[in-house]
Amino acid sequence: MDLKAFYKLSYGLYIVSSCDQDRQSGCIVNTLTQVTAEPVQLAVTVNKDNFTKELIEKSGFFTGVALTESADMDLIGTFGFRSGKTENKFEKFPVKQDLNGVFYVTQDVAARFSCKVVKQLDLDTHVMFIGEVQEAETLSEDDVMTYAYYQQVKKGTTPKNAPSYKGEETQKKGYRCSICGYVLESDTLPPDFICPICKQGADKFVKL
Ligand SMILES: Cc1cc2nc3c(=O)[nH]c(=O)nc-3n(C[C@H](O)[C@H](O)[C@H](O)COP(=O)(O)O)c2cc1C
Repeated sequence: MDLKAFYKLSYGLYIVSSCDQDRQSGCIVNTLTQVTAEPVQLAVTVNKDNFTKELIEKSGFFTGVALTESADMDLIGTFGFRSGKTENKFEKFPVKQDLNGVFYVTQDVAARFSCKVVKQLDLDTHVMFIGEVQEAETLSEDDVMTYAYYQQVKKGTTPKNAPSYKGEETQKKGYRCSICGYVLESDTLPPDFICPICKQGADKFVKL
């Protein structure tokens, strides 16, 4: 199989969130996509280890927001590399609640889609949820973040539980964060260095 062929697939970057009573979380996904127009339905694929998957399954609702290019690494690091099992990710960011009580981030977001789950498909490592859109709203006219922009301009990485994980890059020289995979391309690692993506310290970096 030509693994490079998969680089030809294009995606956007989104946060999909859900809540069940007082528990809530959200995670970065590149797998949110519109699958039908009438009724208007979205699909999202969520790893079984993600807290967000548990909440979507329990509540039957999810809310997706499309990130803009201005979204910073603090937002992406919080929702893409940390788990809502141990912290409330929404605390640091401006949020609103939708008709189902699901919290969604409003900063650096172009659009919001609130969905009711109508089907789900077990994909072994992941679950694909199909949601019927109950509310859709444009929040900004700024350019949306594509996966290519995230990788090429923001120098972002992808954790193993994302469906599009592409394995470790072996070309780069420097120090790699063992938590999120970020590579500091430098001959030295300052002892007080903090990973710009997942906020871990220098002790989590390994020399390449
Ligand atoms: C660029 C990027 C794309 C991702 N895409 C997905 C995805 O499509 N599905 C998924 O389950 N996780 C994806 N992830 C990983 C989750 O965002 C991550 O595991 C998150 O910490 C889970 O949080 P939770 O446990 O609070 O749900 C992605 C992460 C990044 C940074």
